[in-house]
Amino acid sequence: MTTPPLPRWITDTKPGHSEWYVDRFRTMAADGADLVGEARLIDAMVGRGSRILDAGCGPGRVGGYLHGVGHEVVGVDVDPILIDAAIADHPGPDWRVQDLSTLDLGTAFDAIVCAGNVLAFVAPDTEALVLSRLKAHLTDDGFIAVGFHTDKLSIAAFDDAVAAAGLTLDLRLSTWDVRPWRDDADFAVSIVRLA
Ligand SMILES: C[S@@+](CC[C@H](N)C(=O)[O-])C[C@H]1O[C@@H](n2cnc3c(N)ncnc32)[C@H](O)[C@@H]1O
Repeated sequence: MTTPPLPRWITDTKPGHSEWYVDRFRTMAADGADLVGEARLIDAMVGRGSRILDAGCGPGRVGGYLHGVGHEVVGVDVDPILIDAAIADHPGPDWRVQDLSTLDLGTAFDAIVCAGNVLAFVAPDTEALVLSRLKAHLTDDGFIAVGFHTDKLSIAAFDDAVAAAGLTLDLRLSTWDVRPWRDDADFAVSIVRLA
């Protein structure tokens, strides 16, 4: 099997970035910041006890919350430092070091969440490949929720990747707290489903 290209999370960041990211979220959590807005939206969109994949889970804030409210959560990230933090800070979900571009868990999920610019941090030109691997892990009625800043990944590039992966856009918002989409929005939350 060929080695997948390295994600921008690794090639475009400085040494120590992962540790900085973990510390940043631990500090915000200690300060009482609301770090689970994305997870609350996902929870509102699924039935009780759903199977949820936190794709590009980082240190686990989204999957940790979803596990805490009763869902069965698998979290996957390519960065072992972040997965170690997820295991330490949010015990319960099944946290795994894996590359989304080669994901093959052999199971399907009711919802897949890509919070925090994950699609903007995958390796260049692998957005459609990553979405197609996520698609392979969806139940027939499942959805993928993807959030990113539009200056990090353009809407046009994302929509091309969605189409190339055989997915279809179901809903687009400009925030995780359900503000409507505007063409000049600097953030997009896209809900995609099987085409
Ligand atoms: C900005 S962080 C967001 C982390 C987390 N979702 C959150 O919102 O806190 C982007 C994440 O995408 C992950 N990532 C990027 N490309 C990936 C890939 N190909 N496979 C798995 N994870 C990837 C990075 O390792 C990083 O944890």
